[in-house]
Amino acid sequence: RTSVNVGLLGFGTVGTGVVRIISAHQEDLVKQTGMGVNIHKILVRDRDKPRSVPGMEHLVTDRAEEILQDPAIDVVIEVMGGIHPAKEYICAALERGKHVVTANKDLMALYGAEILTLAKERGSDVFYEASVAGGVPILRALEESFSSDRITKIMGIVNGTTNYILSKMSQDGASYEEVLKEAQALGFAEADPSSDVDGIDAARKMTILSTLGFRVPVALEEVVVKGIRGVTQDDIAFGKKLGYEIKLMGLAQRDDDKIEVSVEPTMVHHSHPLASVNGVFNAVYVYGEAVGETMFYGPGAGELPTATSVVSDLVMVVKNMKLHVNGQGMVAPYKEKRMKEETE
Ligand code: NAP
Ligand code: HSE
Repeated sequence: RTSVNVGLLGFGTVGTGVVRIISAHQEDLVKQTGMGVNIHKILVRDRDKPRSVPGMEHLVTDRAEEILQDPAIDVVIEVMGGIHPAKEYICAALERGKHVVTANKDLMALYGAEILTLAKERGSDVFYEASVAGGVPILRALEESFSSDRITKIMGIVNGTTNYILSKMSQDGASYEEVLKEAQALGFAEADPSSDVDGIDAARKMTILSTLGFRVPVALEEVVVKGIRGVTQDDIAFGKKLGYEIKLMGLAQRDDDKIEVSVEPTMVHHSHPLASVNGVFNAVYVYGEAVGETMFYGPGAGELPTATSVVSDLVMVVKNMKLHVNGQGMVAPYKEKRMKEETE
């Protein structure tokens, strides 16, 4: 066996990036995992739509079962978005023993626990790094790097579209409607951009971040949400005069057993590093009792940044597949080390 077969659900902004990265970095992927990555089939809604990556027409299908029921496919990458039928497809893939990588925060915020439980029962991996903050490796950091600490606060700009809109309104005096159209054309916005501008996308991401960071389930309904529709040029100019930028800020705090999570437009003083996070960039500030303050910064949306996280999850899956120790939710190199120690 020299390569792993991938079934890709979705060939839009992120799916296109995944195909491009796998093709451009194939040699390096083989170097890291000892296996090549082969895109076996790609699910789309409309087979006749022109695609920006040429030469893939023979792989494109509009029949999900051609991927989900194909025993040759080892890993399903879900980048189609939405709850249904993405949930059913992911569950069907897990039921058949396939591993799953997804960028779908809508789904993971609502059904993450159910999906992860099913994966564990089936001995499969599910990774979803791209679901929060695009190209910023924040989920792995929360799950693995801070495992020795107790996190009490997570604060951040986690929606690229609204940060792009607010930054352009502040820097160029552009109108809200004009910049939203730009963000849609650049592929940052959700299929239904109201989830971006109404703060729902950020709330979903804060649910995922706080569940991982605080290691307790946090429900989406518990998040207090306010979007940016009501933010005017006057508000931005008034804030600026006083030395503040308006940002759509996610805030998750825990005080003993009480957890509070919110998303709302917030005045951030120019002296704070989050005030200078502009455009599609995201930043997540994490406070741990032992480590103190840390901050993670990078592109929060867009084709290649998001696909970078998706493909790095795929690399984890392939490393785990090679070790035959899937489903434990541990980082492959540590597993490798532990297994080596156990056999010595
Ligand atoms: P997109 O550009 O709208 O692409 C969606 C793709 O899925 C399209 O190829 C579409 O087919 C296909 N699709 C959708 N529903 C389908 C169905 N029911 N059956 C078959 N195919 C279906 O979306 P995207 O921006 O790539 O986002 C994909 C996922 O990544 C979403 O969960 C999103 O929240 C997440 N995400 C996106 C970004 C970003 O920057 N865009 C960043 C992080 C995470 P057609 O091409 O035929 O229409
Ligand atoms: N629509 C999302 C955003 C995509 O603008 O942040 C990345 O999750």
